[in-house]
Amino acid sequence: MSEGRLIVACDFGTTTFRAVVTEVGHGGSFKVVGHAEEPAQGFRDGDFVDLGAGSACIARLMARLEQVADIYVSGFAYNISGPHLRSVRATAGLPIGPGPRPIRHADLDEARTRASAMAIPFDHQILSVTPVEYAVDRVRGVIDPVGRVGAQLEIQAHVITGSRSVLHNIENAITTAKYKPLGEEIDVLATAAALLDARERQEGAMLIDVGGLCTNWAVYRKGVIVASGAVALGGWHLTGDLAHGLRIQRDLAEDVKRTRGVVLRSLVDQVPIDVLFEERRPTETPGLVAAILEPRMEEIFTCVKNDFGDARELAALKAGVVLTGGGSRCRGTRALCEEVLDLPVRRAYLPAALKDAGALPDGQWATALGLGLLYAGGEDQEPRATPPGRGGWLARLRGRWRRHDPGGEMAAEA
Ligand SMILES: Nc1ncnc2c1ncn2[C@@H]1O[C@H](COP(=O)(O)OP(=O)(O)OP(=O)(O)O)[C@@H](O)[C@H]1O
Ligand SMILES: [Mg+2]
Repeated sequence: MSEGRLIVACDFGTTTFRAVVTEVGHGGSFKVVGHAEEPAQGFRDGDFVDLGAGSACIARLMARLEQVADIYVSGFAYNISGPHLRSVRATAGLPIGPGPRPIRHADLDEARTRASAMAIPFDHQILSVTPVEYAVDRVRGVIDPVGRVGAQLEIQAHVITGSRSVLHNIENAITTAKYKPLGEEIDVLATAAALLDARERQEGAMLIDVGGLCTNWAVYRKGVIVASGAVALGGWHLTGDLAHGLRIQRDLAEDVKRTRGVVLRSLVDQVPIDVLFEERRPTETPGLVAAILEPRMEEIFTCVKNDFGDARELAALKAGVVLTGGGSRCRGTRALCEEVLDLPVRRAYLPAALKDAGALPDGQWATALGLGLLYAGGEDQEPRATPPGRGGWLARLRGRWRRHDPGGEMAAEA
C-alpha cells in the first residue's frame, strides 16, 4: 500500500514508449514506484498510423507496468509530439476603453483569447497559449500590465497548435487498449518541466532533446516558453550514417554507436577518411566513427539554431543550453553543441526534484517524469502574467487534464 498519490504517465517516443508510476509526497517530493518500456509500434511522426499495433503496444506496456509496480492502472497522462505541431508567435491588440484606465485581469484574458483566435489550419486546435510580453500604449516589454493605466493593450503570445485528427488518434489508441486518456501535454514542455530549473527559465535557456527520429527544442526566457520547434533528425540518423559508412548491419551500427560512439573528431586520433570511399569495408576506428558522426550531429545542432532563427536572442540566453535525449549520449556531444551554438551546455537526464529514481535504468525518462510532475503540480515553474486568484497555471492545467476524467478517478490504484 503506498502513502502518497500515484501518478501514471506515458511518453510516446518515436523509438520507445516509456511509462512510469511516480509517488508524489508532501512538499512536491516524488519518487519512482515502477517503470516499463516497449519499442514503439504502429506509431510514426507522433501519430498512431496503425491503431491495432499501437494499442497492442500500449496494452503490453501497461500490463508490464502494473506487474512491476503492483498496481491497477485505469488511465494515464501522455505526451504529444511530431511534425503536426505548429508553434507561432501571435500578436493581438485590445482597446481598453474610450479613455485610459487601469488594466484588469479580464483585459489580459480577452487579449489572450484574441491572440488564440488568429488563423490556424482548419484541422488544428490550440494546445497552448503563453503570453510572452505585453505593450501598453505602445510601451513594449511590459511583463505584468495589470494596474498600469492605458488605452491600448497589445499581447505577444507563443501559441502551439496540433492536428485534431492526430490528437483523436492518440486518444483512440489509448481507449482501444482499455485505458483512459487522463490528459495530454506537449512533449518538449513535459521534458522542460522535468529538467529546467527556475533560474534557467528566468535567465533564458534552450532545451534540446535529441530523440530517435526527431530533435525537439524549446526556449524559455523570463520564466515562460517563448519559442519551440522540432527538427526531423535524431539518433536514428546517426546509426544510419554509421551503418552506411562502416558498411555494417543497422543493429551492429547501433551497438557501435552506444558503446564506442564519439561525435567530435578532436577527441580522437584523426584518420584519413578516403577509406570510406574505397570498395573494401573500412576497419572501425574511433577516428572513423567520429568522422562519420560529427557532420550529422553538427547538422542537428545547426538545424536547431536555424529553426530558432534569432541569433541575437540566442546569444542572450544567459543560462545556456540543457541537452537531453538518447541521441545526445555519444561522447563529445556536449562539446560539439557548445561549438555550434556558442553557449554553455549542460547535459541532464533526470529531474533534480526526484528523490528516489528506484531501479530506473539508463535512458530517456525525463519526458514521462515531467508529465508526472506537471500532473502532480510539483513542478516549480509559475509563469509570470498568471492572474492571481484564478487557481494559476498548474490548476488550469490540471483542470484541462481532468476533462477526460469526469469521475475524478485516480490515474492509478495501489
Ligand atoms: N548510450 C547511447 N549512446 C548513443 N545513443 C544512444 C544511447 N542510448 C540511446 N541512444 C539513441 O537514442 C535514440 C533514442 O532516443 P530517445 O529514447 O530519447 O528517443 P524517443 O524518446 O524514443 O524519441 P523522440 O524523443 O524523438 O520522440 C536512439 O537513436 C538510440 O540509438
Ligand atoms: Mg523522447
